[in-house]
Amino acid sequence: MIIGVPKEIKNNENRVALTPAGVAEMKKNGHEVYVQTAAGEGSGFSDQEYIAYGAQILGTIEEVYAVAEMIMKVKEPIASEYNLIRKDQLVFTYFHFASSEPLTHAMIKSEAICLAYETVEKADRSLPLLIPMSEVAGRMSIQEGAKYLEKPLKGRGILLGGVPGVPPAKVLVLGGGIVGTQAAKMAAGLGAQVTIMDVSLPRLRQLSEIMPANVMTIISNSYNIQNAIKEADLIIGAVLIPGAKAPNLITREMLKDMRPGTVLVDVAVDQGGCIETCEPTTHENPTFIIDDIVHYCVANMPGAVPYTSTLALTNATLPYAVQLANKGWKKACAENAELKKGLNIANGKIVYKEVAEAWNLPFDEELVLEPNF
Ligand SMILES: NC(=O)c1ccc[n+]([C@@H]2O[C@H](COP(=O)([O-])OP(=O)(O)OC[C@H]3O[C@@H](n4cnc5c(N)ncnc54)[C@H](O)[C@@H]3O)[C@@H](O)[C@H]2O)c1
Repeated sequence: MIIGVPKEIKNNENRVALTPAGVAEMKKNGHEVYVQTAAGEGSGFSDQEYIAYGAQILGTIEEVYAVAEMIMKVKEPIASEYNLIRKDQLVFTYFHFASSEPLTHAMIKSEAICLAYETVEKADRSLPLLIPMSEVAGRMSIQEGAKYLEKPLKGRGILLGGVPGVPPAKVLVLGGGIVGTQAAKMAAGLGAQVTIMDVSLPRLRQLSEIMPANVMTIISNSYNIQNAIKEADLIIGAVLIPGAKAPNLITREMLKDMRPGTVLVDVAVDQGGCIETCEPTTHENPTFIIDDIVHYCVANMPGAVPYTSTLALTNATLPYAVQLANKGWKKACAENAELKKGLNIANGKIVYKEVAEAWNLPFDEELVLEPNF
């Protein structure tokens, strides 16, 4: 198969979907790899390294899309890429369709095969291609939150860990999944007083077993959230309902109950956000302020630490990409239920229920029900 790796063009996105080691693996399996010039630069991989492992370098993004049967990307295609994607082309990347109606319509129109990293799902319902990036974003959310709590950056001016004789900051983490767990661990490690809220009692039980003593677990409901936000210095939004828009747990009205300078980091912004006032921001302009509350809503947080993120992501995606390249998407999905779950749009039809529901569009069940297509 001919694999194409374009350079990411989303603002400050420095990750790349395939490393030189990935190129070597693809070559070993008999595939051709075309990489756009400088695609790996932001992650520390030069064109020369890609060439050394058997890739061919192309000068423009148009050439990469034109030659490839399978496109490997990191972030969802942006508007300037929509027309480069063609019928029957396999695009393996993060899509997050439930948070972008224009992207959903564009991919239906393209008649391409859209296999979304974020919905590839294991039998235990875990999301293996979301986990590594969630680990990065969860850890980063505390690093960023601590920074924006500083007064010159419009925060409350409180140090997360406090100092001897002075109480630490209070961190509220909404959602105790991968992002929430990593955030809580980091915040606790810095000495903050941490509360994790989740709707799943079994999850809270697990967390209370493994978390240090400065982490409290509380069931998530509107009453408890309403009370906790009044005292929190830093709030991390880390909820997920797979494939669907995140629920609004903090409304605009509730901002008035928070102390000025409270920092909100809505990591779930890529799924529409769990804080009503959150709008996606970029690493160039990560924050905005509403009612004296600092909002940090960067939709591609791991993009800021590409050295760590590219390796973490490609460790997880490569085994699936090799299956897709070796067998073609139909056979690979027929033989691997995890990959089949990643199919979101195929041949102009939505085949992932929550995406269809998000935009009130028809859901085509036939393709996913048919065991061998
Ligand atoms: N902004 C970024 O750069 C970035 C990077 C990685 C992940 N994310 C996003 O972060 C979010 C969380 O990802 P994750 O991997 O931790 O997901 P996860 O599935 O591991 O965890 C989500 C948790 O949210 C809980 N939850 C659901 N509804 C809730 C509610 N009403 N109140 C409290 N908890 C609730 C679930 O029970 C689950 O434990 C996702 O939207 C993901 O796309 C964003």
